[in-house]
Amino acid sequence: MPIERVGVVGCGLMGSGIAQVAAQAGCQVTVREIASQFVEKGFESIEKSLGRLVEKGTLGASDRDQIRGRLRGTTKLEDLEDSDIVIEAILEQLNAKKELYVALDRICPPATIFASNTSSISITEMAVATGRPDRFVGLHFFNPVPVMKLVEVIRTIATDAAVFEEVVAFAARLGKAPVRTTDRTGFIVNRLLVPYLLDAVRVLEDGLASTEDIDNSMKLGCGHPMGPLTLLDFVGLDTTYSIARIMFDEFKESRFAPPPLLKRMVLAGWNGRKAGRGFYDYADATKPKPMRLS
Ligand SMILES: NC(=O)c1ccc[n+]([C@@H]2O[C@H](COP(=O)([O-])OP(=O)(O)OC[C@H]3O[C@@H](n4cnc5c(N)ncnc54)[C@H](O)[C@@H]3O)[C@@H](O)[C@H]2O)c1
Repeated sequence: MPIERVGVVGCGLMGSGIAQVAAQAGCQVTVREIASQFVEKGFESIEKSLGRLVEKGTLGASDRDQIRGRLRGTTKLEDLEDSDIVIEAILEQLNAKKELYVALDRICPPATIFASNTSSISITEMAVATGRPDRFVGLHFFNPVPVMKLVEVIRTIATDAAVFEEVVAFAARLGKAPVRTTDRTGFIVNRLLVPYLLDAVRVLEDGLASTEDIDNSMKLGCGHPMGPLTLLDFVGLDTTYSIARIMFDEFKESRFAPPPLLKRMVLAGWNGRKAGRGFYDYADATKPKPMRLS
């Protein structure tokens, strides 16, 4: 059975992007939020993103109208009852996610596939909160969803092989490049990326080089589009700190341990670009200046 009716839970940064790409791929999409103002906010960002595509000439105005027509917002979880797949993109908290899956399990028919966009929570731990661990996968999109090509598709030891392949095919239908992986915290990208980012903080903390020289080294020496400290400011220091802690808890390896400087910066609320300062000061966002951090 091809996946045609898509439920999305959460219409924040990721959920709105996921809803948009599913509607662009021709699926009927219902997005559920906890309050109507969040539905409106998410739909505004979809509208802006589609508007940019129309301006660039990559999308016709009539196609945009059809995409809009396939998107429906709701605050009622029951409206997801006829979904072929439900993709969850709510806040990164195990208890909130578990509570949601228990409710969804009651509402959706046994055939509905459940997929979580979590960055760090165990897929298995959420799957076993439902009566359908065989129809439960991870579907990890990247930010911004309409732009980034990669999707990590994650199976657990309980995921049915045919369900897994169905979701891989669905990700490809969304225009994404799916990669297959298993339920280990961080999956592929964060497993590789997080120790690198943490090492960049350690290099700064050990006084090996300045913030700008560390960033320039990786840009000019390795061809990265941005340096690790700039990337940390983009991702959010609080987000990286909490992912690192979850990864350290899983693997007990020192390379995942958040360095003391990162912890101090999170305690101070210097969480990066969104907070106005992190490794750089964004008072003038066009010319970020390195912060004094010792
Ligand atoms: N931000 C990223 O770069 C990124 C990348 C990949 C994966 N993720 C993961 O995606 C998920 C969402 O992240 P985000 O950045 O979109 O967060 P966000 O804060 O932008 O959005 C979360 C939304 O979920 C809503 N919500 C909370 N509980 C809900 C519920 N029970 N039902 C419906 N809506 C509910 C909130 O109102 C909010 O609008 C998290 O699990 C995160 O780890 C984030």
